[in-house]
Amino acid sequence: MKSFTLCLLALAAVANSTPIDFEQPQIESRGLFTMRTPEIVRNDGFPLESHKVQTSDGYILEMFRIPYSPNLRNEGQPKKVAFLMHGLLSSSDCWILNGAENSMAYILSNAGYDVWMGNARGNTYSRANVKKSPLLPPFWDFSWNEIAMYDMPAMFDYVRYVTGVEKFHYAGHSQGTTVYFVLCSTVPKYNDLFESAHLLAPVGFMNHMQSPLAKVGGPLLGKPSLLSKLIGSNEFMPSNEFMGLLGDTACRNKSPFQEICGNVLFLIAGWDSQHLNYTALPLITATHPAGSSTSQLIHYLQEYESGYFRRYDYGKSKNKKLYGQKEPTNYNVENIDAKTYFYYGDNDYFAAVSDVLRMALKMKNLKLYYQVPIPQWNHLDFLWAINVKEMINDRVKDNMLALD
Ligand SMILES: *[C@@H]1O[C@H](CO)[C@@H](O)[C@H](O)[C@H]1NC(C)=O
Repeated sequence: MKSFTLCLLALAAVANSTPIDFEQPQIESRGLFTMRTPEIVRNDGFPLESHKVQTSDGYILEMFRIPYSPNLRNEGQPKKVAFLMHGLLSSSDCWILNGAENSMAYILSNAGYDVWMGNARGNTYSRANVKKSPLLPPFWDFSWNEIAMYDMPAMFDYVRYVTGVEKFHYAGHSQGTTVYFVLCSTVPKYNDLFESAHLLAPVGFMNHMQSPLAKVGGPLLGKPSLLSKLIGSNEFMPSNEFMGLLGDTACRNKSPFQEICGNVLFLIAGWDSQHLNYTALPLITATHPAGSSTSQLIHYLQEYESGYFRRYDYGKSKNKKLYGQKEPTNYNVENIDAKTYFYYGDNDYFAAVSDVLRMALKMKNLKLYYQVPIPQWNHLDFLWAINVKEMINDRVKDNMLALD
């Protein structure tokens, strides 16, 4: 137990921690992170626009847009919008790493959509604020609640303004589904924005989470404490000790997975993929992890410990001030009535089948409850499995097209 605490403290010691060295063949790296979306998309033969939007609390987010498909030559023609939102420790890159034929963003572009990819505050592309420096903790004082409440509306409103399109198709992975649940619960008028919402590995309730993160961090950080206060509101920079600890819990020396055991995203979200597209691995490790606040992880650990889908637990006195009660208030997921599509897997450390079902039962307008028919399908297979086109991407595209 003592060494766990030390390791987590090491995680908190942001400034002192040594970044993990990722293998990054042929890819120019800027520090731990590498800017990639524009280069990759252009390399794959698609047009790309970058758009910056400022949230009402001063964060500057970069969004990417594939405005038309060179294959359809539909430049300038009216289009429906498809908006894609990445998960925890990820970025817009997650949608484009499987090449021009197989990646979600290109498949939707080739189906005629105006494709927009969001980036949450704190990741590689959205590491800026008009007042706060990302080098200091106040910048990192947010969890996915704030991503849902500030970033998503700012990006949605911007896309609506630029395109003149009123309703979007939406696809989110992992935390990209959490922010959908939070926003539609809390500001129900946003339900009207969604023509349809495709939720890959939906994450809301979390008490059956199998991630090593939960095992290691849940008991220590899942309830407000001095430690969670100390660790929260920092940039998440996994120390070598922390990585070692997760690695011991997860990877051990199971040889086929050695390559990915050095990457915290895989350690947290699923290191045991049997379907990973290994050709894409250099691109994945060059772009991931893409940055987040420690509070995002802690908020998930609180869901794991409490069994509720509710706001951040700051401890009794601050909760009282913020929420008017000692416990954090629940998200009213009963308010969600946009057309919602669930896609889930059997071997998902983050979105356990029973937790996904519990959320699905609360959806007023559930259009699909699709279990990927491969028992080993894990959390990251939704992005980078060798057969993700067939299992997920084409299916999402067809379900969107069926409504148009
Ligand atoms: C695997 O990733 C590589 C690199 O992005 C890509 O060229 C290839 O098409 C992908 N394969 C599949 C089946 O998705």
